[in-house]
Amino acid sequence: MMMIILLLATILAKPVVGDYNDITREYSHIDDNQLSTIPTDIPSAALVVTLNSNAITNVDSFPELLHVKTIKLQNNLLTEFPDLKNASASLNSLFLDNNLITRITEDRLSALQALNWLSISNNKLTSLPDIDMPNLSNLLIDGNELMEYFPVLPLLGRRIRYLKLGYPMMKPITAESLKALPLLRGLRMERCGLKEIPPVIGSSPQIKKLFLNKNNLHELPGDLFISLSQILDVDLSNNDLENVPDVCHLKKFCLKNNPLHCDKRLLPLKVALIFGTIVLDDVTCVAPPALGWKNIC
Ligand SMILES: *[C@@H]1O[C@H](CO)[C@@H](O)[C@H](O)[C@H]1NC(C)=O
Ligand SMILES: *[C@@H]1O[C@H](CO)[C@@H](O)[C@H](O)[C@H]1NC(C)=O
Repeated sequence: MMMIILLLATILAKPVVGDYNDITREYSHIDDNQLSTIPTDIPSAALVVTLNSNAITNVDSFPELLHVKTIKLQNNLLTEFPDLKNASASLNSLFLDNNLITRITEDRLSALQALNWLSISNNKLTSLPDIDMPNLSNLLIDGNELMEYFPVLPLLGRRIRYLKLGYPMMKPITAESLKALPLLRGLRMERCGLKEIPPVIGSSPQIKKLFLNKNNLHELPGDLFISLSQILDVDLSNNDLENVPDVCHLKKFCLKNNPLHCDKRLLPLKVALIFGTIVLDDVTCVAPPALGWKNIC
């Protein structure tokens, strides 16, 4: 009996160890919900630290990692933005999706001066701080509790090139908030319940890529993309479209999962395929019924 208890005690006391790949320099400890804190065996040479799908509640201290470029803490139980000062020298990409973070602590974020990519989708953020982040170009904040319009962020927005918004953010964006995003090239608004393409997009001549998948777009004006001539790459998959506007000048167009009618309503698409340089993903038609889901490409 004593032996069993002793054995059990040693098993339970065994420190949690992760995997380390010397070639990719990735430390990982994922998918077992075993960790509630940051492990202590992360090698100082690590470039990537992956701790997804554990039960980490808090990161108040982090080992000193001078080379780490990517930290992944997705699917944990974080309620606060992590303190990663010890990894700030080189940290380029931070993934915090699917946690319970309610706010981005200003001093913790501003310590990460090399940060380029921040993905904090599906948390409980109700606001965003406006601080200067010299290298932050990619911000993914869909699935938070930012119910109002995307805020006007003159400092944080200065370097943003790619922004992902979405459900349950109720209101997509205003001309004022777009004005504070002077370098924005790619805008993704998924599951925003959009019934039309927000006209303010036209006021932002630098946007090249527009991703509006999973909305409620039903009918688009035929000349829509002629007036939005700066846009070259469009994703309208998973909407409710039956027709297609003129897409001749687009380079890339995604239309998957729309109830398209393969009659004269698709003429603009055929014209673009013959005369334009468009690349199209697979398109299927629901009507006319004789054709069923025939691929038109
Ligand atoms: C940074 O690392 C040092 C040395 O390992 C440690 O003592 C300190 O607690 C760490 N601080 C944070 C904020 O992680
Ligand atoms: C920001 O990015 C540039 C270009 O990638 C890099 O040279 C610079 O060191 C980065 N800034 C910081 C604070 O790391």
